[in-house]
Amino acid sequence: MNVGPNACYLDQQREVPMALELRKLSHALGAEVCNVDVSKVSEALFGEIYHAFLQHGILLFRDQNITREQHIEFSRHFGELDRHDALPRDRHPEHPEILLVTNEPKLDGSPSDSRYTGRQWHSDMSFTPVPSLGSLLRGITMPEVGGDTVFANMTLAYETLSDGMKALIADLHGIHLSGTRKIANDDSGVTRATEQKRLNPPIAQPVVRVHPETGRKALYLGDKVKRFDRLTEEESKPLIKYLNEHATRFEFIYRHHWRANDIIAWDNRCTMHLALGDFDETQRRHMERTTVLGTPSGYVV
Ligand code: OGA
Ligand code: MN
Repeated sequence: MNVGPNACYLDQQREVPMALELRKLSHALGAEVCNVDVSKVSEALFGEIYHAFLQHGILLFRDQNITREQHIEFSRHFGELDRHDALPRDRHPEHPEILLVTNEPKLDGSPSDSRYTGRQWHSDMSFTPVPSLGSLLRGITMPEVGGDTVFANMTLAYETLSDGMKALIADLHGIHLSGTRKIANDDSGVTRATEQKRLNPPIAQPVVRVHPETGRKALYLGDKVKRFDRLTEEESKPLIKYLNEHATRFEFIYRHHWRANDIIAWDNRCTMHLALGDFDETQRRHMERTTVLGTPSGYVV
């Protein structure tokens, strides 16, 4: 089908009760769902949405001016939601299913705990024994410019490796550490990092994961991995660097410039993402996320 980059098109490949209008976001991954109000989604329509989710890795829904309850309700279609026991500081006090990603100071005026969330390539909850299936992030208050999020297609990253490299990494496990790269350089940052480490001991995850629904293999790595299990950091570093750089080449990514009331649902099993700090930090950036529980993976080292 020949559609322009900005045109929505009907997914007429399949005979379905209701066709989604989709617009591709980049060559590598992602689609915008143009004609859906996420607060009014039937089971039949959700079937179509989930099909598109598996196919495109990330889905964008624009202009979704919804309540927290509606955000949670829509997310529950994807599966059971995480109550964020691994990240207790960042969850909403009244809605444990909502994780705050915000630079809005706390009520006492101290800086937000989650202002540097996502500032390294990662897949959500990879540092736990039950990594997430997917996440749904809603942009609420966005800075005037910047504060973009970049997504990478890890299936494509895996499939474009040579046969030799695929064989080399087939049985490797990467050790995923909790915590962010950029932490606040004060007591709050140090306390948070210590607490996160205590709650989340290092977990070894397969470097190649088989997607439980599509059956396709994807790279599972990112910047939370400092070494492979049974190898030293020195031995691991060059290969981790190579694989992460390979996976995040321009041709494998989509960079999203947020508008207020955008929701992006991403598949954590075959994509990774990065929050860019390319904005004026005196401006507000407030986002809220739900996290869908995945299946157990990896082992404690
Ligand atoms: C997240 C995350 C990225 C961003 O919510 O999981 O990594 O750009 N956020 O805020
Ligand atoms: Mn994230």
